[in-house]
Amino acid sequence: MSSLRQRSTIKASGPSPKSFSETTPPSTSPSGWCHRLKQFGSLVGIGLLLNLMASFIITESFTWGYQNRYTNWHNWVPRTKLVLSDQELAQYDGSDPSLPIYLAINGRVYDVSASPHYYGPYGAYGVFSGKDAARAWGTNCLQTPSHLTYDVRDLSEDQLAAIKGWQDFYDNHHTYYYVGEVVHEPIDPNTPIPEDCRNGVPKPGN
Ligand code: HEM
Repeated sequence: MSSLRQRSTIKASGPSPKSFSETTPPSTSPSGWCHRLKQFGSLVGIGLLLNLMASFIITESFTWGYQNRYTNWHNWVPRTKLVLSDQELAQYDGSDPSLPIYLAINGRVYDVSASPHYYGPYGAYGVFSGKDAARAWGTNCLQTPSHLTYDVRDLSEDQLAAIKGWQDFYDNHHTYYYVGEVVHEPIDPNTPIPEDCRNGVPKPGN
């Protein structure tokens, strides 16, 4: 009983513990918030780094294999939108290796230089380069020269939807990217509409 009394006396007379406010900066003070923010930032940074490393080890990509226009660095670089004529666009057909390869679909121009094996002069889809062949994108008549035109008169809803589908393909691609517009000469309404090719998508009802 006496020892208990003695211990409490020693405790009472010893150095008083530092109060909370003396040891830890109060969370509401600017330095307290700053400290917590730094800790949070470091944690997020380390987490991101680990995530990138794990993604690369497992999928060989930093985005867990997910690829679209947002993983295409070209789309994050601010650039002046090109406005080309058909003649200007024709230079970018892949025949000059010092120039990029462009193709256009219904006025929208895309850089497809990343795949010269597809879009270069000897590529399977080289016929689309340096021009707006919207019609062929809709009719699939890529071997028919008269379809390699931006003249989309008389196309069916399905064919127009197919053209839009290809635009979406290039708009959302992880490698190709939109660079601007091609401004066409208006189509003379008296010119004949290109005939369907044998292998083209048949018009509805045919
Ligand atoms: C007999 C008909 C066709 C065959 C056998 C064929 C075959 C192929 C093959 C094997 C690929 C590569 C797929 C890959 O990336 O692994 C491809 C891609 C492609 N095809 Fe075709 N295709 C045909 C018709 C068409 C037509 C009619 C169009 C356009 C109207 C077209 C447009 C494309 C495009 C844009 C690509 C993507 C090229 C790229 O990734 O940049 N194809 N095709």
